[in-house]
Amino acid sequence: MTSKVDSKEVGLVAGLNLFHFFLGTRDLHYGLWQDDLEVCIQNLPEAQKRYSDFLLSHIPAGVKRVLDVGCGAGGVATELLARGYEVEGVSPSPLLSEAAREQAGPAFKIHQGRFEDVSFADDEKFDLVMFSESFQYITLDTVLRDAALRLKPGGYLLICDFFKTNEKGRSVIGGGHPIDKFRAVLQASELEVLEDKDITALTAPNLDIVDQMGRELILPTFKLIGYAFGSNHPWLAKLIRWKYDRKFKKMHRKYLSGERNAQSFARFKVYRLLLLRMPEQ
Ligand SMILES: C[S@@+](CC[C@H](N)C(=O)[O-])C[C@H]1O[C@@H](n2cnc3c(N)ncnc32)[C@H](O)[C@@H]1O
Repeated sequence: MTSKVDSKEVGLVAGLNLFHFFLGTRDLHYGLWQDDLEVCIQNLPEAQKRYSDFLLSHIPAGVKRVLDVGCGAGGVATELLARGYEVEGVSPSPLLSEAAREQAGPAFKIHQGRFEDVSFADDEKFDLVMFSESFQYITLDTVLRDAALRLKPGGYLLICDFFKTNEKGRSVIGGGHPIDKFRAVLQASELEVLEDKDITALTAPNLDIVDQMGRELILPTFKLIGYAFGSNHPWLAKLIRWKYDRKFKKMHRKYLSGERNAQSFARFKVYRLLLLRMPEQ
């Protein structure tokens, strides 16, 4: 029996193809919008490069072997390899792994599967385990323990991702572990916090781009298709509208209502970079 394809994976690959075709970027993370960079889709590749540079600038001296968990299409791994690190990846998505090998080169070793499930030899240890916008996808109760198992004594964990704030109300933007729960799990671990930076203000503008795409590209395109289809096949269009009315309304609220923007992101999410360290033993 073939297993079901995860819709999040399909979304990531569709986004990858779209942005690669139009903008030449293969990164699957947010951009870092520093003050001098105008927030517009054309500047997304530069903002994403700044994110990668910012992330990699937090790798401590002496680190050689890196495990890139949730390596996406291999953008960060390629940067790491170019800087002389030995890198292995973890990826549950065969489609993204293929793209990662294409980008990072056939020598890039990928452990295929979810981080929760992949097995490593007991003595396979890394100087640093990295989660670049992949932390939110991995089971919170076990992720720090599993990452620590892959680290040499004194090794590091680098997490760059967003979390849910305690803000009341319903957010149309999904994703992120609850920050309080993460803090509790972190406190219960033996990891020492070396850096803990809030980059919400620099990452929130990505949502303004998503909002603009929804309003100026996706909504008019759907309206056009709906208009053409409705004129040519009025009964079928009525039937589809009736059958999928609730789904369409939900999608509209989630993606096209204008609520998916920087302001809402900054209210419901907090984007942090954390550098953690295992004790020397
Ligand atoms: C937003 S992308 C980030 C990709 C890449 N790290 C980057 O910075 O461009 C999220 C990544 O997490 C991966 N992922 C999702 N669930 C995972 C899991 N349980 N274990 C490992 N990786 C996972 C996805 O396949 C994807 O590669």
